Amino acid sequence: MTAWSTLHALHEATAKRPITELFGAADRAAAFSAQTGDMRLDYSKTNIDEDTRTALLRLARECDVAARRDAMFAGERINDTENRAVLHSALRNLDGGAVEVDGKDVMPPVRDTLAAMRRFADEVRSGDITDVVNIGIGGSDLGPAMAVKALSPYHDGPRCHFVSNVDGADIADTLARLDARRTLVIVASKTFTTIETMTNARTARAWMGDHGGDPQRQFAALSSATDKTADFGIDPAHVFGFEDWVGGRYSVWGPIGLSLMIAIGPAAFDAFLRGGQAMDTHFRHAELHESLPVMLALVGIWHNQICGHATRAVLPYDERLGMLPAYLQQLEMESNGKGVRHDGTDSPRDTGPVVWGAAGTNGQHAFYQLIHQGTRVIPCEFLLAAEGHEPDLRHHHRLLVANCLAQSKALMEGRDLGAAMKIAADKGFEGAERERQARHRVFPGNRPSTTLLYPKLDPFTLGQIVALYEHRVFVEGVILDINSFDQWGVELGKELATSLQPVVDGEAGHEGLDPSTAALVDFIHRHGG
Ligand code: F6P
Repeated sequence: MTAWSTLHALHEATAKRPITELFGAADRAAAFSAQTGDMRLDYSKTNIDEDTRTALLRLARECDVAARRDAMFAGERINDTENRAVLHSALRNLDGGAVEVDGKDVMPPVRDTLAAMRRFADEVRSGDITDVVNIGIGGSDLGPAMAVKALSPYHDGPRCHFVSNVDGADIADTLARLDARRTLVIVASKTFTTIETMTNARTARAWMGDHGGDPQRQFAALSSATDKTADFGIDPAHVFGFEDWVGGRYSVWGPIGLSLMIAIGPAAFDAFLRGGQAMDTHFRHAELHESLPVMLALVGIWHNQICGHATRAVLPYDERLGMLPAYLQQLEMESNGKGVRHDGTDSPRDTGPVVWGAAGTNGQHAFYQLIHQGTRVIPCEFLLAAEGHEPDLRHHHRLLVANCLAQSKALMEGRDLGAAMKIAADKGFEGAERERQARHRVFPGNRPSTTLLYPKLDPFTLGQIVALYEHRVFVEGVILDINSFDQWGVELGKELATSLQPVVDGEAGHEGLDPSTAALVDFIHRHGG
């Protein structure tokens, strides 16, 4: 029997078993947790038992997770549709040795760029710039925007703003609040061709020129296409480059993180890199069953590919991680949302799950109803810090903690009809109405969740969290036999947008358009578009 069929058989045999029964084994909470440093992943509130875990680990071994991991860190060209190495880990390899691609050590230029970023960041932080606008989209926006929000207690530099959408509302609303003479604009684009970013960058340049700023002095660029940054007119001293082995959604560790470095300072940015590097070391050396990225991935595979739960909710009980679900949507869905395997054949199973979520406790008052009582099971991933950053508001943090723990407990334990009948009776309901009322108050329970715990959301911990999810996505991709590092699925829409532009502009007719799109264009033209 293959590991896949063993897992399906195990699921069939245990699907109805209450998770609470598994706690008959006294040490389950510890035995079904993994720890690195001060970070703990608890996956005991899932239906995974000893046999399931053994089969999941067998699956990881059969899929050569360890060998593929080593190939990635060794700089092999594992992104085999773009013929690229995958080495974002080199950007945080602060005290590691050489990292080679085709026999050449990539570390000297990585270190030089980091040193140049530090000098530039120090200069900006000590000068008269009050605001920084990062213009980028996808990985050139979500990483730094998520991290800047996450680390706001460490901000001691200029304010940071993020413009991504080509919708003029985004840049108009942002620039309206700023003084063009004291603003630094960072154009973040790996390719320096992305239409949204280039359109916003041109608008920002015109705004700066019109409002007394100096685009020559107040523009910087982060890109692997330095020829294009020169064509745009950005001073080469303000250009920070990186190589094609850094994927967009994995790029916050290098130049794309410049806005974060300016916000929190080079020393705190180093701590962020060290957190990522610590997770790399853990991932490379821990036994599979003790590895947080591997176990988080295997829990994901169990829930999605074996149990058939198509989505997963990411629920940080940490307000400052409010953008983590959006960040993970790109990281996970752009990486593993593929239908074709390495060899070009169709995947025989569903691939990456739908990832969504919001910060707790807000989500509790929005979509948790469905998570608790809806007909679909949604595995939940909670994140929680033992300590907050507000010493005067400890009672807030204790409430936050209690809410987070209560949710995972309620999801697992639920409430049966007997208990609900008692509540209905206490409320004065009788007879058939008592049962009708009670049935609405039943919680099926047996809904799985994991909890990631850490002492405090500091730069080092954020680095650990981001690298943990990167490696989790990698392990899931290896098990699904897909290339997690390309993104061909974003191309078609971009091509069609380009060909539709003249139609929208009224410079070309409807010929060749499908009737629905033609009717939509007509409506827009009739209403002034
Ligand atoms: O959405 C596709 C994509 O290529 C992402 O992978 C990337 O993060 C984003 O566009 C932005 O690309 P760039 O940094 O080249 O502007």
